[in-house]
Amino acid sequence: MGDKNKKSSNTVWHVHRITRKEREKLNGHRGLLLWFTGLSGSGKSTLASAVEERLYSQDLRTFVLDGDNVRHGLCSDLGFSDVDRRENIRRIGEVAKLLVESGSIVMAAFISPFRSDRQRVRNLLPPGDFLEIHCKCSLEKCEERDVKGLYKKARAGEIKDFTGISSPFEEPTDPELVLETDTYDVNACVEQTLALVKKRMSL
Ligand code: ADX
Repeated sequence: MGDKNKKSSNTVWHVHRITRKEREKLNGHRGLLLWFTGLSGSGKSTLASAVEERLYSQDLRTFVLDGDNVRHGLCSDLGFSDVDRRENIRRIGEVAKLLVESGSIVMAAFISPFRSDRQRVRNLLPPGDFLEIHCKCSLEKCEERDVKGLYKKARAGEIKDFTGISSPFEEPTDPELVLETDTYDVNACVEQTLALVKKRMSL
């Protein structure tokens, strides 16, 4: 949805006195967005949650935004057509931006199958704040795991537009990190992610 669709005219941006910098100073660290993208069952939510636990235990401010959860509330009116997925990621991007401005380290776990949508979220934030993390797991492996039983339903034609089966997943071309979740265990992937966060935190 570009500006041409903007319906909220006659609004004026209000500049508040407490800035992101001040909130970050209070928190003792900077805000950041870790964007986990990948097929359903590739480990995005598990990793987002595990990374959050580790950061939280170091007294850092964190928040997890997760596909299945957000679709119960903020995006409960959206389905899985290309247009709806696009709007889903647009809304999440805006929410994630607000959370980063509050000084939090945000973990977002969404399939987010379209490159242009992920790029749009990247562009919402200042350079360096968006870290694209590709949870790379083969379709075969995701399907073999089938934690939620959705692949079976998709193959049987009971779910349409299912990512990897009847709807595309566009792999990131230049992500900040690739986690081979079909090769490495959760712990190893968490360590790789924390190493990246540590590097970014000191910038
Ligand atoms: S996204 O494509 O718009 O980014 P999102 O991450 O919010 O998707 O939601 C994905 C979750 O919704 C999956 O993990 C799965 O549990 C569920 N789901 C239900 N229908 C589909 C579908 N057609 N394609 C993919 N995931 C689906």
